[in-house]
Amino acid sequence: MKELSGKVAVITGAGSGLGRELALSCARRGMRLLLADVDEPGMAETVRLVEEASPGTETEVMRVDVSKLEQVEALAQRARERFGGAHLLFNNAGVSCGGPLWEHTAADWQWVLGVNLNGVAWGIKAFVPLMLEQGEGHIVNTASAAGWVYAPGSGIYNASKAAVVAISETLYFDLKDVGADNIGVTVLSPAYFPTAIVDAERNRPPELADTAPMTEARRLRNERVRYAVQRGRISAAEIAEMTLEAVEKNQFYVFPHKKIKALIKARAEAADQEITAFDTLADRK
Ligand SMILES: NC(=O)c1ccc[n+]([C@@H]2O[C@H](COP(=O)([O-])OP(=O)(O)OC[C@H]3O[C@@H](n4cnc5c(N)ncnc54)[C@H](O)[C@@H]3O)[C@@H](O)[C@H]2O)c1
Repeated sequence: MKELSGKVAVITGAGSGLGRELALSCARRGMRLLLADVDEPGMAETVRLVEEASPGTETEVMRVDVSKLEQVEALAQRARERFGGAHLLFNNAGVSCGGPLWEHTAADWQWVLGVNLNGVAWGIKAFVPLMLEQGEGHIVNTASAAGWVYAPGSGIYNASKAAVVAISETLYFDLKDVGADNIGVTVLSPAYFPTAIVDAERNRPPELADTAPMTEARRLRNERVRYAVQRGRISAAEIAEMTLEAVEKNQFYVFPHKKIKALIKARAEAADQEITAFDTLADRK
């Protein structure tokens, strides 16, 4: 989608981190914004920053839990009523929890897959029909490097993000099959970058509370991920800009951290050899 000015962007997870920066990047391009998150104070801060950086931007916020289909459908309804449609959808809300796979509770699975996988599925289900009616649109799904190469201690997150890559590639061809050439798809796959994702538990619903024991393996994993996220060299703002440029070029894959592509090749080589599983941490001391 080359010309974004005046068009409508819907952004989930807009109350923090990358979602907030996507809102700022869209506003800079003159887009109108419909922001969704479970974090209402976070969204209010995003609106304040948007107004400061791009005064006069038309912005609406809505409390939406993306794991709930009816709430995402209500978001699409709001886009129709308030803005007359939606051109650019960012399925971006995401959470993470860590530990060895056998230590996770059923609630851990339900929470992380509910937000990261169902959230994307519901976004597509609610918004693609609207875009088909409009005759144009673009969907950006935030996956992760974890959708391609799988670090230990992040099994549920890895599974959820691999699913986002699979859904994005399938969506691309499903749209092609129905001749919807004016609806683009982008799958964004960053490695670690500094945001509040390491404190994702802050927005975990009480009915899916964390009841798994804090084992040493889990503590070490959390420490390793916190360190890696905080030391990320590319900022959320830079990733948001790269993403918007990709939308303008109708680019499908976005890998802000180029090193990930070498890991994906190495993984394909390991698969080709068929002997051992690919170790993402092999080159780290
Ligand atoms: N930060 C990283 O290192 C990194 C790396 C790769 C991919 N990602 C992905 O980037 C995306 C954005 O995450 P971030 O790093 O900006 O983290 P963040 O925690 O700063 O922002 C995530 C936002 O999602 C919201 N959210 C959580 N549960 C929700 C729900 N049920 N419904 C609606 N909103 C919900 C949170 O309230 C928060 O505002 C996620 O999909 C994440 O998996 C992050």
